[in-house]
Amino acid sequence: MSAVMTDLAALEAELSARVAAAADAASLEEVRVAALGKKGAITERLKTLGALSPDERKSMGAAINALKDRVTEALEARKRALDDAALDQRLAAERLDVSLPVRPEAKGRIHPISQVTEEVVAIFSAMGFDVAEGPDIEDDFHNFTALNFPLDHPAREMHDTFFFEPKADGSRMLLRTHTSPVQIRTMMTRKPPIRIIIPGRTFRCDSDQTHTPMFHQVEGLVIDRETHMGHLKGTLEAFAKAFFEVDAVKTRFRPHFFPFTEPSAEMDIGYERVGNEVRIGTGSKWMEILGSGMVHPNVLRNCGLDPDEYQGFAFGMGIDRLAMLKYGIPDLRDFFAADARWLEHYGFDPLDQPNLATGLSR
Ligand code: DAH
Repeated sequence: MSAVMTDLAALEAELSARVAAAADAASLEEVRVAALGKKGAITERLKTLGALSPDERKSMGAAINALKDRVTEALEARKRALDDAALDQRLAAERLDVSLPVRPEAKGRIHPISQVTEEVVAIFSAMGFDVAEGPDIEDDFHNFTALNFPLDHPAREMHDTFFFEPKADGSRMLLRTHTSPVQIRTMMTRKPPIRIIIPGRTFRCDSDQTHTPMFHQVEGLVIDRETHMGHLKGTLEAFAKAFFEVDAVKTRFRPHFFPFTEPSAEMDIGYERVGNEVRIGTGSKWMEILGSGMVHPNVLRNCGLDPDEYQGFAFGMGIDRLAMLKYGIPDLRDFFAADARWLEHYGFDPLDQPNLATGLSR
């Protein structure tokens, strides 16, 4: 082999080694310039062709151009390999596992009281009720007087109601004993038609398996010009069916007494006990679940409404009791024990919001 050919072979070996060793785009570019740039090794050799005889030029030209093609091809192949490797690395680094559970470290559960409150709100919202709220600390007027409690009514006595120390004028604030004062607050500030439910905390001095000093109620109030007892019954029967998620729920209205309604009725639902379980919709026993009635004319008057123009109905029930019944929870005191294992067992999935379309509870 001629000296020139040996030189070309050595050059090719050197360039091939440098191409293979280039670890990134910048060093590969350096190799390309060193070989094919204006002053590159191959370019320099092409420039020598002009001084050769026609025969030599032909064979040398072919050899150098073939080398140039091979080196160009090697540079391109190496570039593709480096680009692929860079892309692989980026894909691996930026990978997102969309099948990972949402925040697996969070293990919160929705408390049954919150769950049942949401369920009741979902049912009555679908019937066109708004949610109203009022303060836990009330005065005698809103909690008793405006609701037509006679001055000597036993519910005002110390053993039922938590009173605060008397103020300078002798009046005492108290922890509301029911959600009914929010009826008064609403009627005094809003014009009928009124259609509200009022979930909230209530307080009475009492404690055993089914009573705690703090508990929860939801109140309902409808005031309009032609609201009657039929609306009350229809609304509460529809509620019972939706809440217990049993179409066959039987209801019964029994006459009762509340100072703020006339007539008043308690609603019972039919049930039976099978072993430890309470079944709603079958059986021949009755259980009281709420109080209700037509708003007393005195209450309307106390709120500045004319009973000859407006009338309506109201109802009230214990949220905790509803939760115990629906979800088979035996002791009310556990609701407030802040026991994480209890909540894990009786609590609800935070991502399942109760709604009528997909079912209240799952
Ligand atoms: N406030 C009553 C209670 O605490 C419950 C109740 C009964 C509320 C009848 C009402 C009603 O609005 O009409 O026991």
